[in-house]
Amino acid sequence: MLFETCAACHGGSGVGVPDGSVPAIAGQHFRVIVRELVDFSNKERWDPRMQHFSDERHLSGAQDIADLAAYISRLPPARSADQGNDEHVQRGAEVYARLCTRCHGPRAEGDNRRGFPRLAGQHREYLLSQMQYAVQDQRPNFSPQHVHLLQRLQAEDLPDLAQYLARLGP
Ligand code: HEC
Ligand code: HEC
Repeated sequence: MLFETCAACHGGSGVGVPDGSVPAIAGQHFRVIVRELVDFSNKERWDPRMQHFSDERHLSGAQDIADLAAYISRLPPARSADQGNDEHVQRGAEVYARLCTRCHGPRAEGDNRRGFPRLAGQHREYLLSQMQYAVQDQRPNFSPQHVHLLQRLQAEDLPDLAQYLARLGP
C-alpha cells in the first residue's frame, strides 16, 4: 500500500510527531493534501524529506496522489499531544477570531471546497515553523496576501496562535 512509505514518518494513523518535526495529516482535506504533494514535487514548497518522497520515483502520478489524499483525508483527525501551557491561549484565540476565521473557519476546521487547510489540533511547533517560513519567504506556495497578513502580526502573535490552534479538538 502506498501509505506505508508515509506512515514511516507520519505514523500509521497519520498523527505525526508531537514535537512538530512531522505534521499531523490525518483528516486534512483532500484538496489540501493534493496541493501540498504537488507543490513539494514542483519545489513550490521546500523540505528535503517531502521533496524526496513526493518525486516521480515514489508517486507515479495524479492517480497515486489522488488515492493517497482520499485515504489520508478519511483518517480521523486528532488533537496534538503537545498542549503547551495555558498562558497565551486567550490572546491566540482573539487574534485568530479577528484575522483567520473567514478562511480557516471558526473552529479552524478548514474547507475542502475552497482548499483551506484544517489547522485545529495540529502540532504547535509545526504551525509555528510554517508561519515563520511564510514570514521569511521560505514557503513559496503561500500567497503574497497570506505572507503579508502574517508579516503584519506582532512577534508574540505567532506562538500564541500556534498554542491556541494545537488545543482545538477535531
Ligand atoms: C522522511 C519522513 C517523511 C515521509 C516518508 C513522508 N513525509 Fe510528509 N512530511 C514530512 C515532514 C517533515 C513534513 C513537514 C515539511 C515542512 O516542514 O514543510 C511533511 C509534510 C507533509 C504534508 C503537508 C502537511 C501540511 O499540513 O501542509 C503532507 C500532505 C504530507 N507530508 C504527506 C505525505 C505523504 C502522502 C507521504 C507518503 C507518500 C509522506 N508525507 C511521506 C515527513 C515525511
Ligand atoms: C484568505 C484566506 C486565508 C486567511 C485569511 C488565512 N489563511 Fe492561512 N492559509 C490559507 C491557505 C489557502 C493556506 C494554504 C497555503 C499553501 O499551502 O500554500 C493557508 C495555510 C496556512 C498555514 C499552513 C498550514 C499547514 O498545514 O502547513 C497556517 C499555519 C496558516 N495558514 C495560518 C493562518 C493564520 C494564523 C491566519 C490568521 C492570522 C490565517 N492563516 C489566515 C488561507 C488563509
